[in-house]
Amino acid sequence: MAECNVTDQTSLQRATARFTNIDGELLQKVSNLGPSELLLLAGYCAGLAETAPAQLNAVGTLGTAHESSEDSSLKCLILYASQTGNAQEIAESLQQSLESSGYNTVLESTLDIKLARLKDYALIVVIASTHGEGEPPDDAIDFYEAVVSKKAPSLNGVKHAVLGLGDSSYEFFCQTAKDFESALSGLGSEPLIERLDCDVDYQQETLNWITQLVGAIAELQPPVSSAPVLAENIIQFPYSKEKPFSATISIIQKLTAPDSIKDTYHLEIDLAGSGLSYRPGDALGVWADNDKDLVAEILSRLSIDPQTSVSFKGEGHSIEDLLHHKLEITLLNKGLIRELSSLSGSQKLLDIADTGYSEYIRNHQLIDALKLANVTLQAQQLVQMLKPLKPRLYSISSSIDENPEEVHITLNHLEDENEDGTRYGQASHFLTRQLSEGDIVNVYVDHNKNFKLPSSDKAIIMVGPGTGIAPFRSFLQQREAEQAKGRNWLFFGNPNFNTDFLYQTELQKHLKSGLLTKIDIAFSRDQEQKIYVQDRLRQNAEQVWQWLEQGAYFYVCGDMSRMAKEVELVLLQIIEKQGNNTQAQAKDYLKQLKKQSRYQRDVY
Ligand SMILES: Cc1cc2nc3c(=O)[nH]c(=O)nc-3n(C[C@H](O)[C@H](O)[C@H](O)COP(=O)(O)O)c2cc1C
Repeated sequence: MAECNVTDQTSLQRATARFTNIDGELLQKVSNLGPSELLLLAGYCAGLAETAPAQLNAVGTLGTAHESSEDSSLKCLILYASQTGNAQEIAESLQQSLESSGYNTVLESTLDIKLARLKDYALIVVIASTHGEGEPPDDAIDFYEAVVSKKAPSLNGVKHAVLGLGDSSYEFFCQTAKDFESALSGLGSEPLIERLDCDVDYQQETLNWITQLVGAIAELQPPVSSAPVLAENIIQFPYSKEKPFSATISIIQKLTAPDSIKDTYHLEIDLAGSGLSYRPGDALGVWADNDKDLVAEILSRLSIDPQTSVSFKGEGHSIEDLLHHKLEITLLNKGLIRELSSLSGSQKLLDIADTGYSEYIRNHQLIDALKLANVTLQAQQLVQMLKPLKPRLYSISSSIDENPEEVHITLNHLEDENEDGTRYGQASHFLTRQLSEGDIVNVYVDHNKNFKLPSSDKAIIMVGPGTGIAPFRSFLQQREAEQAKGRNWLFFGNPNFNTDFLYQTELQKHLKSGLLTKIDIAFSRDQEQKIYVQDRLRQNAEQVWQWLEQGAYFYVCGDMSRMAKEVELVLLQIIEKQGNNTQAQAKDYLKQLKKQSRYQRDVY
């Protein structure tokens, strides 16, 4: 190692100029220390240096693009952009894999990473999901703006690897990963391996990608340990998405009145014997069967005999069974529409894929696209065109501490009309129309690290109109079970008071007992001028600001396209006006809230 024997700050600065982790701020702090503090620190640093060489060697040729390989700073950055925790979980597993091979890595959220630090790494691995309509997750919005701005550093000589998580039924599939990759390339970085865009069934593909990445890194620098811990060994749950628990539905209860324009249900599901547990903020994954009538309609349109044998993932099935249990027939994707267009020559389908996709998929399904295509297909050909069925996620609306071995969910039965008839939501139709109390449903818990209650003394503000109430019912039950002292303020809304006040009795009980400090309701259609939760927030601006200043946590759950966006705008206005902030300061305040996990959203 290079000797550093300098005592005045200028020569020290000169000597350390090559080490970007040693900046002016650090040197200033060191020079302010007293003699005994300096000796203590010197001993500590010497101790660290003794243990560092092994790591140094392990990452030697992965030195930063701008420094010599003798520098001991960390070289591989694993950056994640994640809303509900999937990308974060993969990033954590990747870090464990690489560290077990002796590589030195830094794991960071896009919320925390400093832009200027990017150039300190030889390899930047980005794992990013996409949310909204092709938008970055909340934790990545500012980073994305920064990385395409003029302030972004040159990354010449740096290598990157990008993994995208997404859902191909959305118009902008894995858009965030694509955007990040092009931003990194624009700054001069080069791909170490090709970007992978994963669909909802991402586990196996992700493992293959990680294996490829670890191999490519090993070519740059052989690993110290020859037996890396593979990511697949790291996450193990008793029941999972791949191995769901067959639970009994104990209660199906309609929450809205018969004359309501909404059709909302409360379901209680028995988890006894599963060992499954969950925390408030988690979601329940539900594997629902497709509607038999819809399967029959599809097969009849294609003139396929329901008993025709087909193969899927190496196993034989009848086409009817496969469509009923294993293939996606309600959610469309652009690839499928394009394929049907090219088979049939339908210009209309091509136009839909090119320009009208979002609008079309709102109330159309496979059967409608088949009608437009008007083609006949072989059964096996159909199997190859369709995606595997995916589970649907519902925010859990119970606390397991108050309801041992049970889980509750709150859902709308989805129903949309189009020119050819009525189309139903796949899982909501299955759960509320095809199953009865006592029937079995396959479920698992989908943990959400980014929607969690704070410690019990903290105040929380919850904005959850419609079925967005679900996680907040769980929060309130949990706080009751823990006898938490923190204050709780709920904003709830729906069309009409008389027909749509979900969990009204429970909420009133909570208000009476003092568990709910405050509730503000917005029934949009009870008066001429519509009133929404964001209007109630605005009316309570002063108090919302006080709560925030006193450390309250702010939660939003529900519709992302309008409600969540408008709530955020009002929140920014409150921060700006009540706190006498400029727009930029208000944005920064919100960013700090996010960093402290004091602004969390579960929107869909
Ligand atoms: C409300 C919502 C919106 C989404 N929007 C998109 C999208 O526009 N494009 C896409 O490819 N995937 C989209 N997805 C799918 C997610 O990217 C996918 O579920 C991913 O695994 C989530 O990873 P995370 O937990 O790290 O955020 C969306 C998911 C949700 C819940």
